Amino acid sequence: MRQDDQWKSASTAGDCTGRDVHVWKMSLLKTDAGFSCDSLSADEMKRAERFRFDSDRNKFVRTRTTLRGLLSRYTGVAAKELTFSYNEYGKPYLRTPGKNKALFFNVSHSRDIALFAFSRNCELGIDIEYMRDDVQCLKLGQRFFAEQEYQALAKLSGNALIRGFYRCWTRKEAFVKAVGAGLSFPLDSFAVTFEEDDRPQLIWTDKARFRGTCTLFPVLHDEKYLAALACLGDPAQVDFYHCS
Ligand SMILES: CC(C)(COP(=O)(O)OP(=O)(O)OC[C@H]1O[C@@H](n2cnc3c(N)ncnc32)[C@H](O)[C@@H]1OP(=O)(O)O)[C@@H](O)C(=O)NCCC(=O)NCCS
Repeated sequence: MRQDDQWKSASTAGDCTGRDVHVWKMSLLKTDAGFSCDSLSADEMKRAERFRFDSDRNKFVRTRTTLRGLLSRYTGVAAKELTFSYNEYGKPYLRTPGKNKALFFNVSHSRDIALFAFSRNCELGIDIEYMRDDVQCLKLGQRFFAEQEYQALAKLSGNALIRGFYRCWTRKEAFVKAVGAGLSFPLDSFAVTFEEDDRPQLIWTDKARFRGTCTLFPVLHDEKYLAALACLGDPAQVDFYHCS
């Protein structure tokens, strides 16, 4: 398994084939009010209207429009023609996969960055978090994490504690998003590695059906953000692209 963590230009991206995974990053800093909503469906427009703040509405519109654009690129179906279905926990799936059969995808956004992951081969979950300095790492860790994760977290302090907490959180959230249950999935029923030099890994789960099924990848090494990708399979390669 080769992991290329260099963000490449969109123009170099080919199709996502075989066991490859493509991850795209988009800046949400330019919340341009004039961004076109043309490809959005009526229910997406209704959702956009419910945002109280323009900046949140614009970020939602940009993210959904870009998701539709990327899905269109992979399926050959016009962005506006794509339709989604949702599982009982709200995970979106493509109802109209187009010329190629399955296309799995997942989306995450935090503050000024959105991430999109695609695969034709396996279910995916992606999570990005902006790292707040005032997060109550140990309190949240004790409440939500597996006992072994909390014990390892409690050995950290200062910046290492904050980064450790977010590394653990993003890996866990990516996994529950790949499974499709989101935070309805008990976060203390499985454990991941999260120390700086640890290979990202699901190291324990009390649910036999998930043993040996998940591959985790770090996605962003940033001062302010951490992100992780979870695949319910074994990708051959992960490629990273900037949205232009
Ligand atoms: C999925 C979840 C973990 C997202 O958390 P978050 O950190 O706020 O958001 P992220 O930015 O990482 O991800 C949001 C995206 O994930 C996707 N998503 C939504 N539900 C999902 C799920 N259950 N599994 C995987 N992905 C999901 C959507 O594309 C969403 O994008 P959108 O908000 O633009 O529509 C959280 O919303 C959750 O736990 N949802 C489940 C709630 C539930 O159990 N509902 C029961 C029925 S009401």
